[in-house]
Amino acid sequence: MNILDDMNRIKEIDKNGILKVEEDFYQQLLDAREIIQNADLSEVRKKNNGIAFLGMGGSGFAGDIIKALIKDDINIPVEIVKGYKLPAFIKSNWLVVAVSYSGDTEETISAANQALERKCETLIICSGGKLEGIGRRESKVVIKIPPKLQPRGAIGYLFLPAYLALDKLGLIKVNSADIEEATNLIKLKAVLYSRKNSSDRNPAKKLALKISDRLPIIYGTEGLLTAVSYRLKCEINENSKTPCWCNNFPELNHNEIVGWERLKDITKKFILLIFREKDETARVKKRIDVTINIIKENIGEIIEIQVEGKSKLARALSTIYLGDMASVYLALLAGVDPTPVEKIKILKEELEKLN
Ligand code: F6R
Repeated sequence: MNILDDMNRIKEIDKNGILKVEEDFYQQLLDAREIIQNADLSEVRKKNNGIAFLGMGGSGFAGDIIKALIKDDINIPVEIVKGYKLPAFIKSNWLVVAVSYSGDTEETISAANQALERKCETLIICSGGKLEGIGRRESKVVIKIPPKLQPRGAIGYLFLPAYLALDKLGLIKVNSADIEEATNLIKLKAVLYSRKNSSDRNPAKKLALKISDRLPIIYGTEGLLTAVSYRLKCEINENSKTPCWCNNFPELNHNEIVGWERLKDITKKFILLIFREKDETARVKKRIDVTINIIKENIGEIIEIQVEGKSKLARALSTIYLGDMASVYLALLAGVDPTPVEKIKILKEELEKLN
């Protein structure tokens, strides 16, 4: 029997239970909706000239996905800050949303402090830590989310409250039918991707088995699927402890496509996952089809993953969910505990010594 269908083996390898956290993603979305319903945002300024999201890694992804969801409709700039410094153009008339699961990430704290110094309207999302203290001291709204998870496993808590907060503030309009569609789709996928559903019927297990010991490369398309591809790349890095790269159409057609010419012996051990959408424009469809034809000789296998759902939100969340679950199964397949991120821990400890 394959490891992914052996419940005892899964329990042995997944010592910290991240698979259960992923299986419960649907509940996280319901809780996140409640968190924002109960949050008092009356003190937060409603009129802003721009929105900036601060955050790193799993927390930073909240900004990526929100920007991808809203950028075609919103008429103020949306900026993502993944680092220590707040860009100079972010002034007091901006809303800054600082997202850090632990609340202790130094880059996010540094950029949040600059936002506070510049008197930007500031909203904080964290489970505690220094950022909570800073927010309370400065009388800013702090949206607290449940602790004791891995940040990347808390994406429902990190992303949905921030997204719905913008709706509550009147900065964007979130359609309640989209929320319903997305949560219902995740509920269905949770059953399909669960450990109890065997490998022959489980698309997340199948994807992990396909990748197996090959190096995955992920291609998305401009916008929503660029964010989703990056998420999957990071999940494969952090959960599966595997190198992985991502890129997006059309940009990769202007550089990376040429890079598939040499080193065939190495790239034959790669597997390329391409996210595809039903409503690709004729030009994007052509780009992807032609690219596949040009590079297929040099890659072990190319898999096209059809994105499901009607609304952007459902399409993003359901695709992220497939990738999240597959990355956990990929770790289990390799006999690796998906939870610990030792290298991030070592790095943060070394930096702490500078304080
Ligand atoms: C770990 C993870 C990391 C963290 C990042 C920032 O699961 O996903 O990418 O998200 O190191 O830490 P936080 O999220 O606490 O601000």
